[in-house]
Parts: sequence; structure tokens; C-alpha cells
Amino acid sequence: QVDISQEIKDIEAVAVRLAREAGALILAKSGRATQVDRKASRSDLVTEVDKACEHLIQSEVKAVFPQHHWLGEETFTEAQLDRLGDGPKGADYTWLVDPIDGTLNFIGGLPFASVSIAVARGSTLQVGVVYNPFIDELFTARKGEGAYLNGESISALPRETELEDAIVTLGFNSKPERRKLMLQEISKVGPHCRAIRALGSAALHISYIAAGRVGCFFEHGLKPWDIAAAWLILEEAGGYVTQMNGEPLPLVGGSILATNGGKVHERMIEILN
Ligand code: IPD
Ligand code: CA
Ligand code: CA
Ligand code: CA
Repeated sequence: QVDISQEIKDIEAVAVRLAREAGALILAKSGRATQVDRKASRSDLVTEVDKACEHLIQSEVKAVFPQHHWLGEETFTEAQLDRLGDGPKGADYTWLVDPIDGTLNFIGGLPFASVSIAVARGSTLQVGVVYNPFIDELFTARKGEGAYLNGESISALPRETELEDAIVTLGFNSKPERRKLMLQEISKVGPHCRAIRALGSAALHISYIAAGRVGCFFEHGLKPWDIAAAWLILEEAGGYVTQMNGEPLPLVGGSILATNGGKVHERMIEILN
């Protein structure tokens, strides 16, 4: 049995450094991207800064950990996604990176976006780092070691919290049919929660549950790079992540329900299903 804890600490340190470096780029270029390209639709965009941030992170990971696998939003291949879907076994490390979570905010100059970096060993998440450069907030976690915001321990709202006393957050996926579904779901949840917010970065929304700022996040069709880092941070803060029907969420993502756990989670499943 090898002691992997030092290995994981070293990986976290590199992830934190790279999140801050990419964050500096985001901060400098917010609202000033010059190449805005359309991906699958008019609300699915990418800029030269998304690509530059991913390149910065990927090239450094390659240099420091040449044997590690890579999955990033702006460079992913179907083969990489398939590998993750099969649930990678053994001791191989995989980086799951969203260089800018909140690209549409970034393009508009709306100061709410993050860098999201997770590292899994086999199919177990071991490191999660989410960084919001606009207000210099760094959320971090290592498996089994708790969750932190700028180095201070954080925890999700108490399990007994009622949905009526919790803020619910959500995301509008760019696919029209998923938006439709979401609108129906909002009309079901709306009457039962304290308030609804949709701020445009899944990674930050989930990290905010970890910090006890909000109680819940849900969205359809999320990808591993959107959720992996914040997922570990939330679990380490006492929260809980499943699919919207309550079944376990695979690492490849899908429809996600993330909460502080306990009553809010049970109630959301009841309401949504
Ligand atoms: C998006 C953001 C957004 C969510 C979308 C994601 P991106 O990620 O997390 O909040 O609603 O579904 O695709 O494209 O800005 O990295
Ligand atoms: Ca995107
Ligand atoms: Ca994203
Ligand atoms: Ca992105």
C-alpha cells in the first residue's frame, strides 16, 4: 500500500497555482475578449481567453505530471469522455478542467465566473479547486480532509434546514429543450423555497452550497468539467450530490441535484419527480 497523501497534496498545490494564474488572465480580459466563436449554438460560445486558460493549465500539468490524463472543456475528445464514462480503474490520475466556468458572463463583463480544476485517481475525486478571481475566493478540498474557502474550513447548511429556508440556485443549459424542462421545474420549486438565483457558473453555485450561502443547485446536462471540482468540495463540506431522481450521479455528469443534504435533498427529489 503506497501512501498517496503527499502525492495528492502536491497535486493540489499545482492545481491551486494554476487556478490563480488562469484567474489572473480572466480578470484582465473580462468583457474584453476579441475572438468570440459559436460552438453548438448562439448561447454556447468560446473565446480566445477560454482557450488560453486551458492551454496554460494543460501545458503546465503536462510538464509537471507527464503521466496524468487530461479532460478539458475546450480540448476534449469523445475518446477521453468514453474513458471517463467507463469509470477509470487503478491508480491513474485524470485532470478534469473547466478553464472558464461562466463564459457568457465573462464575455459580457459580468464579474461572476470561475476556474474549475478537479483531479481524480481512478474514478475517485481526490482534489477539487474552484477559483473566482473577481473577488479572490478560492474553494479547495482533498478527499477526506474537509473543504476550505481561502484556507478557512467551510460547511454546508445544517441537515435539518427546510427548503422553505433555503435559497435554490440553478442553471439554464444552452439546449432549448433543457431550458423548457427547467422552466417547468422552476414553477414547481418556486413556491416552496426562500428564493431562486441563477448566476451563470455551476462550479460557483455548488461551491456556494459548500460554504452554506445557498442550499441547493440543479441543472440538466452538465459535463464533468463543470461539476467535478465543486462536487468534491461540497461532499467534503457535508453536502450531497445525486441525479435529479436521487440516483447516483456518474462522473461523466448529467442532470445534477446538489444540496446541503438532509431535508432539502429529499424535498427537492419529491418536488422534481
Ligand atoms: C456553463 C455554466 C453555466 C451553466 C451551463 C454551463 P461554461 O459552463 O456553468 O452556469 O448553466 O450549462 O455550460 O460553458 O460557461 O463553462
Ligand atoms: Ca462552454
Ligand atoms: Ca462550464
Ligand atoms: Ca467553460
